[in-house]
Formats: sequence, structure tokens, C-alpha cells
Amino acid sequence: MFGRLKALPADPILGLLAKYREDTNSKKIDLGVGVYKNEAGHTAILDCVKKAEKYRNDNEDTKVYIGPTGSPIFNDEMSKLIFGHHKVLLENRARTVSTPGGTGALRVAAEFIKSCKAGATIWVSNPTWANHTGLFEAAGLTVKTYPYYDYENKTLDFDGMLAALKEVSADDAVLLHACCHNPSGMDLNNEQWQQVAEVAKSVGFLPVVDMAYQGFGEGLDEDAYGLRLMADSVEEMIVCSSCSKNFGLYRERIGAITIIGQSSSAVDVANSVLLYVIRVIYSMPPAHGAALVETILHSDELRNQWHAELKEMRDRINGNRQLLVDKLIEKGVTRDFSFITRQMGMFSLLGITPEQVQQLQDEYSIYMVGSSRMSIAGIANSNVDYLAESIAKVL
Ligand SMILES: Cc1ncc(COP(=O)(O)O)c(C=O)c1O
Repeated sequence: MFGRLKALPADPILGLLAKYREDTNSKKIDLGVGVYKNEAGHTAILDCVKKAEKYRNDNEDTKVYIGPTGSPIFNDEMSKLIFGHHKVLLENRARTVSTPGGTGALRVAAEFIKSCKAGATIWVSNPTWANHTGLFEAAGLTVKTYPYYDYENKTLDFDGMLAALKEVSADDAVLLHACCHNPSGMDLNNEQWQQVAEVAKSVGFLPVVDMAYQGFGEGLDEDAYGLRLMADSVEEMIVCSSCSKNFGLYRERIGAITIIGQSSSAVDVANSVLLYVIRVIYSMPPAHGAALVETILHSDELRNQWHAELKEMRDRINGNRQLLVDKLIEKGVTRDFSFITRQMGMFSLLGITPEQVQQLQDEYSIYMVGSSRMSIAGIANSNVDYLAESIAKVL
């Protein structure tokens, strides 16, 4: 059986990480993998998570099956985090269940959409997170792209996006990044969200909002503004969220999927299908990460501490953007890189050629994805001079 298989290339970002680890240059910089790093280049466990972990360790008394929805308390806390006091909660039109990370939420969303309409089309932004296409296609969906990033002008191709979304069909799905667009860092502003929500309503497509970075852009509520606005306008919607980045729980694999329906009874029907989808893929989500998140969100003390730690991460990333732009000017670079400061979240597309990306890697041990996507958290006061000098040289 296995003899029929052809080897597939390794994931390019994980391959980059392996190369970085082998590199013996003491000045090497990893701008590849999308994980938060502190000033020392370390992805530390948040203090609030440590405390929650101790609490769970002392108080947890069973590891019995948790059921396909995961913990109801986690689900409830997550829906409040995502929607605030939104009418979809007051009208009882949302159902949230835990998933193995944001990826699990997206894959469940894909299978759920397939149950609604086999072979449905989902539109994703050009560019988008590399895994979106694979995981939607793996569920048998057709993936098409709408214009999003204007590579030439380093801004949003909003007119192109809107024009494309007006042409999609009513039974298509459209994937939108809630905030901190991966890989471009270019987000919709509030006015643009309003326009996209109006198009979603008039065309009738299903919005699928991926929120992998809530709290990494401008703030927890600010980052959810667009999806809340969307939920004001449409009757049906899916939100996939992740606790990997904002709680630093990458390896615990915890996220959530929320489906919103036309009415409480309609969403119950949809939810029964969602639970079946989960049951036949992995049966039940992992519980540990959810237990940590619910412990934090349920305690005033730990929640406040989390807000402070999240702010620290957010401020560091935003500060790094300005830091790099200032250093590039200081090193004599005349090309305008100020767009980096207008982008949000973990990533920016530097806009250099694949050859220059390769040269940075080969000659300066600076690692970024071939599209010139930089993980901004990899920049630090200790490496930014070397980084800016090296970019200046390859330019
Ligand atoms: C846009 C986007 N969606 C989803 C995910 C998945 O996150 P998780 O690690 O929780 O599966 C990521 C992770 O990098 C992402 O960038």
C-alpha cells in the first residue's frame, strides 16, 4: 500500500526552523516561525498560565472523557471573549465548542461546510496563511482567492477585494482574517469591515472568520471589532479562534469554533451536525489547554494578569515594527519601509525578492519565509542593528 506514495516536500517553515537550529553563526536571527518571542528570543510560558497550571494540578480529580464539545465553561468564556455582549449571545444564536487549536477549528469548519454543501467553494485572501488552502482542500472544498494585498504599494487592495466578493455566489464561503493578517499584517479598518459586512449581507455568502491573534493587534475588543460587526449583519457565520498565541499555549492545542445560526433552534440543528463532524474526526478535544484558559478567564486576578501579559507581548511587537524602520533609515536605506509600522500583529511582508531572502539566509544567517514574510517578534534590541545592516547590504 505505502509503495504507491510519492514523497511530499517538508513544510517550508518547519524546514527553515531546522536549518536555523543547525546554523552555528552566533548572530543568526529567526524571523520564520510565527510564535511570540521575548527580548531574549525565548517563547516563555505566561505567568498566569503557570499559576493556572498549579491550580489545576492541585484541584483536578479526573481525566474521564469530556465529550465532543469540550468543557462548557471554557466554551462559555471563549464566546464572551470573542463576542463581548453581542446580540448573537443574547439571542442564543451562537454555539461554541473547543477544538484542537485554531487549525482544528478550521478543519472542523471545513468538514462542517462540506456537510452543508459537498464541494462548496471557499474564497481566501491572496495571500493567506499557507495552511488554509491545504486544510480546506483536504475536506474536499474548492479554494479560490480574492485580491487582498497590493504588493506594489504595500497596502490593501480593498477595491479589488470588494469587487471580487460582490461576484461570489450565495452558497460560497469566504474566509476573512479577524485581525493581524497572516502573512501581510494588513488589516481592514472599521469602515472597510462595514463595507465587507454589507456585501456579505447582500450577496448572502457564509463568512468564516479566522481569529488566531486576538489581542495581538490593538486589543482584545478592538481585534474582534470586525467580526462583531459582521455578526450584526449576517444570519449565519463561523468563527475559528485559537488560544495558541494569546495564551502562549501553542503545544496544548486549544482553540474554538463558533457557529452562528438564524435562530436558536436553527443553530441547534447545525450544532448537532457540528458535533457529529467532531465525533468522527477526533471524538473529543484535548482538555488541558481549555482547563488553563477557563481557569484564567474565570478568576479576576488571573484574567487581569493575562491582560497585562498580553499587552506586554502586543507592545513589544508593535515597538519592534518602529524599531526596525528607524534602524533601516539609520543604516542608510532609502527605500520606504514605513508600511511596516502601519501593519498589525506578528507578520510583515518585507517586499524583497526571493533571491534577497536567500542571500540573507546564506550570507547573514537571517531566516525568513521565501515570500519575505518576517515574524516581527524575532526582532530584538540585541539583533536589530545586525538585521538592518544586513538588509541594507542585500538591497
Ligand atoms: C491565520 C492563522 N490561522 C490559524 C492558525 C492556527 O493556529 P493553531 O496553532 O492554534 O492551530 C495560525 C497559526 O499560525 C494562523 O496564523
